[in-house]
Amino acid sequence: MTVTPPTPDTVAFPQDRECPYHPPASYDPLRSARPLSRVSLFDGRTVWVVTGQSVARDLLIDPRLSTDRENRAFPMPTERFALSRKRRIALLGVDDPEHNAQRRMLIPSFTLKRITALRPRIQETVDRLLDAMVEQSPPADLVSAFALPLPSMVICSLLGVPYADHDFFEEQSRRLLRGPDVTDTEAARRQLDAYLGSLIDRKRRERGDGLLDELIHRGPDETEIDREELISLATILLIAGHETTANMISLGTFTLLRHPDRLEELRSADSLLPTAVEE
Ligand code: HEM
Repeated sequence: MTVTPPTPDTVAFPQDRECPYHPPASYDPLRSARPLSRVSLFDGRTVWVVTGQSVARDLLIDPRLSTDRENRAFPMPTERFALSRKRRIALLGVDDPEHNAQRRMLIPSFTLKRITALRPRIQETVDRLLDAMVEQSPPADLVSAFALPLPSMVICSLLGVPYADHDFFEEQSRRLLRGPDVTDTEAARRQLDAYLGSLIDRKRRERGDGLLDELIHRGPDETEIDREELISLATILLIAGHETTANMISLGTFTLLRHPDRLEELRSADSLLPTAVEE
């Protein structure tokens, strides 16, 4: 690993946001210097950060780059993140051919047909949560009444994780991503591992109808997935499936409320909805 001393104008990365809805103002030089700039990390290392879209697209598919956290050259942005060196993280932390093999295991569960089949149940959940929120006298808390439970319920039913346990795994996921310190992150990781491990053991004995059950009970022609890899895949899907979407629903709503003209425009034409959601 080469540690290049930061120059006086090297931006420290990452930095805390002053406002939760905007990148820190001290990242501004990265925007003007795109597509590549140097940033300095918490451990003193200086690395490249990519801020230009087309360069990012090229690099993301370049086989010379690696996302393997066990590779000593992989830059760790925070101390918490550095913990992931100690274990393999499914999908996000592995390169091909392992990455491709893991993706292929999941593809059958994410086909258009399978996702379209979930639609009526998702719609019913959306309607029920919105009705309950409207029934409460104002104000309502969008995050706890809608933005978090909706994706959490959907990912639970997709994976075959009991939604009744949502307080537990939402809490562990919050501690993993935003806990106070590294010790707390490690404790949350152990608790989530133990929970998912015993869920997987239960499913081995009694098959349910979620994605985890399909991965556990694979056909005779398919390679068996070991317990640790199953836990890792379950963790990624559980966290990726609810944290991201909950934040996006909340921030999207907040943004529209701050721009009533845009909200009005959107309300007036359903045809704008797909691109608004994509944005
Ligand atoms: C608005 C919602 C979402 C956002 C903004 C989002 C964002 C992202 C981003 C930025 C990555 C790339 C991470 C990296 O490679 O370091 C990613 C990967 C991934 N996301 Fe999402 N995601 C969302 C929803 C979901 C949902 C609902 C699921 C699961 C049902 C999911 C599952 C995954 C998986 C499995 C990967 C790894 C893919 C791979 O490496 O092949 N995401 N997501």
